[in-house]
Amino acid sequence: MKLIILCAIALGLSCVVGQEIGFREGFEFSEEEGFHLEQFSNLIDHFDPADERTYKQRFWYDANGFDFENGPIFLYICGEYECGVNEARQFPVEVAKEHNAIFIYLEHRFYGDSHPFSNLATDNLKYLTARHALADIAVFLTHVNDKIVSEHKGEKRKIIVVGGSYPGALSAWFRMKYPHIADASWASSAVINAVENMDLFDWQIYESSNRSSDTCTRAIQGLNLEYDKRIQNKDKKGVKEIKDLFGASAMHDGDFAFYFIDIIVGKIQYGSRTELCTFLESISELSVIDQYRQIATHYNDPVDEKNSYDRNKLKDPTIVVSSSGRAWTYQYCTEFGFFQTPYPDIHTRSDTIQRKYWDDRCIAVFGKDAIAQARETNIHFGALSLRSSNIFFTNGGEDPWRWVGVTASDESMNKISRVLQCENCGHCVELYNETSEDSDELKAVRSEIKEWIDIILYGHLK
Ligand SMILES: *[C@@H]1O[C@H](CO)[C@@H](O)[C@H](O)[C@H]1NC(C)=O
Ligand SMILES: *[C@@H]1O[C@H](CO)[C@@H](O)[C@H](O)[C@H]1NC(C)=O
Repeated sequence: MKLIILCAIALGLSCVVGQEIGFREGFEFSEEEGFHLEQFSNLIDHFDPADERTYKQRFWYDANGFDFENGPIFLYICGEYECGVNEARQFPVEVAKEHNAIFIYLEHRFYGDSHPFSNLATDNLKYLTARHALADIAVFLTHVNDKIVSEHKGEKRKIIVVGGSYPGALSAWFRMKYPHIADASWASSAVINAVENMDLFDWQIYESSNRSSDTCTRAIQGLNLEYDKRIQNKDKKGVKEIKDLFGASAMHDGDFAFYFIDIIVGKIQYGSRTELCTFLESISELSVIDQYRQIATHYNDPVDEKNSYDRNKLKDPTIVVSSSGRAWTYQYCTEFGFFQTPYPDIHTRSDTIQRKYWDDRCIAVFGKDAIAQARETNIHFGALSLRSSNIFFTNGGEDPWRWVGVTASDESMNKISRVLQCENCGHCVELYNETSEDSDELKAVRSEIKEWIDIILYGHLK
């Protein structure tokens, strides 16, 4: 096998040994039960033909029960996190099994242990774009399909790409950009509209919390109003008193406000609004500072999480396999925006995180060129007018991200969208394991997805 030796002295790296694109020598898909971890050598730069450097991209596959001669390929696109078998979201795996498919998870470049470089220096991050991630998937899937066909005969396999949230968007964009590779996309809570001033996200916090009770919404408002009052009064001691409860005394005022509200938002986003509100109602009689104290004890996140909000920590280019803070911050700072700004006059987040806060944050972490290019991203991918066929979009009715997702169907293009208005229906709701408590609406959408996939694969119900 030809080895390409490249030296990147300017980046302070020693020699990078690049391999040809493809699987390791002698690799065979194993039929043994369960998922198997492997690596694939993919191009670092898909858009400069002269650049032949490669990096190792991880993937996990389960070919147990795979019909090697005819079975389809299901690719679960991983995104801004360490990839792996997602035990909680096994519904797509279950659907794939019904079709004797091979199921594959592919890690996203710059996350987990799929790194083109030995660190996350800002210069290296120019290769961290959705366009490169899509090209990675295209090269990978073509190699998978070719390998299966050349070793087991049969026709080129049908491919369904699945993803949730940012990978949901990747999944829809992949079908649009590479329709010759993927036959269909299942795009769960796909955030395909790059918006810089995303205040509707905040509006959804208000709307969702108020589905529980007026008390719940008022509790969230009270916490933010108290923080903002202390900020406005330049009450440094008072602000520190709140931060200290979360072990975050050194954090920038805005970064802390973002971190704090994400604790609340996370519960709503992931379908635990009732639990959150029951808790906030139970402490609503306490003083605001005591409410903060209770929240810190009840919900305080691990340090890893906190570091993803703290600009001083985010400046560190060291790779931490389990932490994606710096890489994802770079992506939203440069490509998408998705800046969660306060919706006017509803106080469900602090006024310290207005539009300007976000620009300052991005520049503080990555330098002056880290300017969100949401408009360019939307020109490139089409935003809500994305023109493609065979995509099933889903959105949770209580999910704040639904405002940057596709919520209208276009049956003539076989582009379907469902917004699930069930209780506690949050982000990527239908990807989770089926349970006996699932609402009828959720069950109905899952059946619809199954039938839709039958038609994609066979032209009729199975
Ligand atoms: C989800 O279902 C799979 C089997 O389909 C099981 O292995 C896994 O433990 C379940 N995960 C959760 C969180 O219930
Ligand atoms: C919650 O909704 C109700 C009914 O629409 C409304 O009367 C109430 O003012 C809302 N609560 C808050 C805090 O705005």
